[in-house]
Amino acid sequence: MDKPKEINNANSIESTKTILNTINHSLIVLTLGYIIYLINFTFSKINIHVLCCTIGYVLLMSESLMVLTNENIWSRKITNYRNRSHFHWVLQALGAIISISGVVIEYIGRNEKNKPHLSSIHSIVGFISIIIMCIMCLSGATMFYTMKLKKLLRPVVIKFIHELLGITCFTLGMIAECYGFNKSWMRYKAGDYIAVLAIILVIIITSICIMRPIKSLLRNFFVVIRQN
Ligand code: HEM
Repeated sequence: MDKPKEINNANSIESTKTILNTINHSLIVLTLGYIIYLINFTFSKINIHVLCCTIGYVLLMSESLMVLTNENIWSRKITNYRNRSHFHWVLQALGAIISISGVVIEYIGRNEKNKPHLSSIHSIVGFISIIIMCIMCLSGATMFYTMKLKKLLRPVVIKFIHELLGITCFTLGMIAECYGFNKSWMRYKAGDYIAVLAIILVIIITSICIMRPIKSLLRNFFVVIRQN
């Protein structure tokens, strides 16, 4: 007997999501792998900056967003959302520590060479993302106390603020990554075409990662305005 049309549709949506998720993991590994290859065990301050920021944002923060989806290949056996959210915050925290370290190392490097700070679009956008990340870590911590904070703010409002900050922080960081790949560091080492390809890969990774958070943000936004 033929399956009802709705079941077929739902199955093909699930399959598409799983394929996109698998493609995204591959693109993340490809991008990070290529950066490791370019750095080739030469640990100058700028190389550490590029490596830490790419591990922090492209690997850990992207994975921390994908771990919350049902289709994520390495975590879909964990059916309990609460358990998956533990992976989410651990990956976020690691990503934050590693990328902040990368920025601090570049800051020290520029100090040593008496170069000006925050003098490019890349550095300004990256810095704003890092600031939001620090605020977000605090707002993330409040997620554990949503029940206790209930009297002050409704849980859905806290969730909405956390999602809004999270999406902004991640997107700005990935924009900084694209501006980073446009720098002579990348163009000199890898060539113009590869630099453009790396930027396209980062745009695809970002788009796939923020699909679910944006859906959830919009859902929570409508719940917030309906309840007011
Ligand atoms: C999410 C990832 C990234 C963030 C958040 C970030 C953030 C920053 C910040 C805040 C600075 C300024 C430091 C200062 O003024 O003291 C900076 C500088 C720099 N970054 Fe990044 N970065 C990221 C990724 C990259 C990548 C992937 C590259 C190269 C492939 C790169 C190359 C550079 C260079 C060459 C500088 C020095 C020149 C400048 O200030 O624009 N960054 N970055």
